[in-house]
Amino acid sequence: MSSSDSIRMEKLCYSIGGRQILKDFDFHLERGVNRTILGVSGAGKTTILKLLLGLLEPDSGKVFIGNLCITGLPEANFMQQRKRIAIVFQGGALFDSMTVGENVGYRLFEEGRLSQDDIEKTVLEKLRFVGVEAALNLYPAELSGGMKKRVAIARALAADPDYIFFDEPTTGLDPIGVYNICNLMQRLQAEGKTTLMVTHDLATAFATSQRFTFLHKARMLFEGSEREMNSSRIPEVLEFLKPTDRSLFI
Ligand SMILES: Nc1ncnc2c1ncn2[C@@H]1O[C@H](COP(=O)(O)OP(=O)(O)OP(=O)(O)O)[C@@H](O)[C@H]1O
Ligand SMILES: [Mg+2]
Repeated sequence: MSSSDSIRMEKLCYSIGGRQILKDFDFHLERGVNRTILGVSGAGKTTILKLLLGLLEPDSGKVFIGNLCITGLPEANFMQQRKRIAIVFQGGALFDSMTVGENVGYRLFEEGRLSQDDIEKTVLEKLRFVGVEAALNLYPAELSGGMKKRVAIARALAADPDYIFFDEPTTGLDPIGVYNICNLMQRLQAEGKTTLMVTHDLATAFATSQRFTFLHKARMLFEGSEREMNSSRIPEVLEFLKPTDRSLFI
């Protein structure tokens, strides 16, 4: 696979207020491989997504979208590349003052490439895909948590990205909500989208990804498949997996 079909971090260092969040962090998201970055709360998972999107500037190291190193570039110089990536933010980040339809169509409307008719068509198509077309004219405050997440996914899909980042997409949902989101992610993958999820929810991770990266104390402690993770002897990985060991509860 060529480097034009991937998003990468090389030797990335990032700190906030004197605390090192990432140290010499290497990460590679190839097109077609669905990955999850795992780590405890506060480990720096959301920060990684922001760095990959160029929303934060690293202390050192580089981020590449395809062949372009975006580190140090003004935003306008990598907008084209960034449009290949969409993100579903941790809290959904919907605009409260806009309807569901306006939220989903917002980016297309801003871009001004499509007619109003075509935007409306795209909005409905994406809402149908996530199964909440009936909410078209509702406001975010009128939606359940699971619906909000699905609307946020529809909004991410509106611009037809190649890569979709998911920040804790199932946190706070009931089992049916979790199933719906996992199912949606699998359908997107079947359509050729590449997904990168960050989460501490192992069940969602194992249901939707093939490769796993474990972030611990600013470093990548593990990288591999589910099978490799389950047979890992790294103490911190074992500790992270422990809550899934049912024998502990009997
Ligand atoms: N704007 C900020 N100012 C100060 N500290 C911050 C800021 N953003 C993040 N942090 C700190 O950086 C660390 C990493 O934050 P981040 O949000 O990336 O963690 P996370 O792994 O996504 O956590 P969670 O699982 O709770 O979402 C945390 O300790 C957090 O408190
Ligand atoms: Mg987070």
